[in-house]
Amino acid sequence: MKALVLAGGAGTRLRPITYTSAKQLVPVANKPILFYGLEQIRDAGITDVGIIVGDTAPEIEAAIGDGSELGIDATYIPQDQPLGLAHAVLTAADFLGDDDFVMFLGDNLIEGGITDMVDSFQADRPAAQLLLKKVPDPERFGIATLRTDGSIERLVEKPSEPPSDLALVGVYLFTSAVLGAARRITPSWRGELEITDAIQRLIDDGAPVRASVLDGWWLDTGKKDELLDANRIVLGAVERRVEGDVDEDSNVVGDVVVEAGATLVRSTVRGPAVIGSDSHLEDVFVGPFTSIAAGCRLERCELEYSVVLDRCTIRDLPRLEGSLLGRDVTLTRTERRPAAHRFLLGDHSQVEIAEG
Ligand code: DAU
Repeated sequence: MKALVLAGGAGTRLRPITYTSAKQLVPVANKPILFYGLEQIRDAGITDVGIIVGDTAPEIEAAIGDGSELGIDATYIPQDQPLGLAHAVLTAADFLGDDDFVMFLGDNLIEGGITDMVDSFQADRPAAQLLLKKVPDPERFGIATLRTDGSIERLVEKPSEPPSDLALVGVYLFTSAVLGAARRITPSWRGELEITDAIQRLIDDGAPVRASVLDGWWLDTGKKDELLDANRIVLGAVERRVEGDVDEDSNVVGDVVVEAGATLVRSTVRGPAVIGSDSHLEDVFVGPFTSIAAGCRLERCELEYSVVLDRCTIRDLPRLEGSLLGRDVTLTRTERRPAAHRFLLGDHSQVEIAEG
């Protein structure tokens, strides 16, 4: 059995972060989203992993390399343009051959892994096995309607009038029959070869397509608030590990990771939280559900429920909350006159200023 991981496409919803980096590499609890999926694939006993890459290929390849550190054997499969999930499958046809495979969307995070799903697929080998989850906003996803026996009757991609609230989670198991189905579909209204249309072909052909409903959480980390929520949930499972340098006037409370090379001076970190290597915190309060990546410098500030990427500088700011800062961001207070806010913001940036 093989795996096909989709790490191409454009990350329009997480702009401006994804102007400069792949959305699948945005970190949750200081680990790229994509790594969680690759680890779950490996834990299900699958090591032969094809990775679909697009414009951000160099960055994805630099992060994963040959895959050996993650316990997988990675093969990169370039996709010229993000023309749809079924197009990605067809692009990988040579890699997939006649093998069964799990397709995993690189920006999805699911709880509990995929081992049970893979085992039950291998026992019966239906043409496709899908994972579903009830959602409050079905118009944003591929949606399934079920027959009374629990098998899938119909799939529609992002319907304006959803026929059910059961969304397709980004994990699919297939036999090679899906390749034949994908070759027989045409682009959808959004110009993509939809995997939902290919699976609908299998259903219409009378092939067995079944589904299970995911009990645990599922996070499609497309937007800022979803990313902060994913960070909250994943940090909830972090165990305390303090390897950095914490001075005697600092306080590290609860499940906090302080990576080697990080330094805390007169600072309090209340977990769950992670502080990346070589980050320096001085007179800082870090509240729960916060991830600070590597090489940051924070002085005289407070932050909580936030994600801060590598090499940021934050100085003299009383309170930051619910914030996502990209790499190399500087946020400081100034004595310069006239007293005014001065910004240099990328396209699609968002700033909220509190009164006072
Ligand atoms: O997240 C679950 C949803 O994922 C499903 O409910 C939908 O049925 C499914 O179509 C998909 O919808 P999205 O519109 O959210 O897919 P997105 O364009 O975000 O692509 C998902 C991942 O696949 C992402 O990591 C980028 C990658 N990708 C996407 C396309 C279209 C590729 O590698 N190549 C592509 O051509």
